[in-house]
Amino acid sequence: ALPQKVKIVEVGPRDGLQNEKEALSAEVKIELVNRLARAGFANVEAASFVSPKWVPQMATSSEVMAGIERLPGTIYSALTPNMQGFEAALAGKADEVVIFGSASEAFSQKNINCSIAESIARFEPVAKAAKANGLRLRGSISTAFGCPYQGQVPLEAVADMVRRMRDLGCDEIDIADTIGVATPRQTQAVMLRAAQEFPLQQLSGHFHDTYGQALANIYAALEVGVAIFHSSVSGLGGCPYAKGATGNVATEDVLYMLDGLGIETGIDLDQVVDAGQFISQQLGRKGASRAGNAIAAK
Ligand code: HMG
Ligand code: MG
Repeated sequence: ALPQKVKIVEVGPRDGLQNEKEALSAEVKIELVNRLARAGFANVEAASFVSPKWVPQMATSSEVMAGIERLPGTIYSALTPNMQGFEAALAGKADEVVIFGSASEAFSQKNINCSIAESIARFEPVAKAAKANGLRLRGSISTAFGCPYQGQVPLEAVADMVRRMRDLGCDEIDIADTIGVATPRQTQAVMLRAAQEFPLQQLSGHFHDTYGQALANIYAALEVGVAIFHSSVSGLGGCPYAKGATGNVATEDVLYMLDGLGIETGIDLDQVVDAGQFISQQLGRKGASRAGNAIAAK
């Protein structure tokens, strides 16, 4: 049987907007985060404290964290690759910090400019500081299904990274399909291998939709018991100039499917559709969620 309840982590304000060519003002991002939280998400990824030289779109993260309203039931998360990022997340009153590594050495170098082993050494003080300050700690594992630089990523490399994130004390671990290449049976194999190292209930699926497989992969992951998924309102993300890149799976599409399956999320789809229309207008383009556009057109 499929899980009866699923937690959706809304990552649009971070993963989505970090990849949009248009850099939006802090005000617009604050409005987006507030709209999403009001729609009922238990967890919104709101900010990323990384180098503004690497990701200029996230440079206003401190302003965003200072400006958002805080709903009592919502966890507001921020990415923190190192202690400099952690200090900013702490000052910004993040409820959860996200350390992000990779199952592929090549991607680790390109994304965070260090080897996997070096990344773990950087995460150690972040993990300790998160615990000491009573913050939730999440670990994200990129390229768990394939890497744009090295191609295939062995299952054992994913398992190894899950163990390292577990040993750092992560409350939740994301298995991420960074470039959207996974297919459903592979999804099940990777999730089940990860679950040998870390409780399945605390594993999440983070699927990008580049090859149009994300919904099928989510369904496949549900079949093996995964009950946490990441998605992005209006399918935000993806750069029009990066060959074939697209954003995360669209939240509206995921919610529509889960609703049809009778799976509870606690999220109001209509409010998410409105948030999607709002941010698409700000970006000056049509939203990328099929369900979102269909509902908005009614
Ligand atoms: P580095 O250059 O190796 O770091 O970058 P460094 O320690 O040598 O510092 C160099 C400069 O960066 C210094 O500034 C630091 O102050 C600054 P300078 O003296 O040259 O003016 N710096 C920072 N500034 C702000 N906040 C910080 C910070 N740290 C250093 N936290 C670093 C290493 C990780 C910082 C860099 O490579 C970086 O920022 N990378 C960005 C990576 C990123 O944001 N990627 C996207 C998010 S991950 C993702 O999207 C995947 C995910 O969605 C899952 C999936 O789909 O796979 C989660
Ligand atoms: Mg991502």
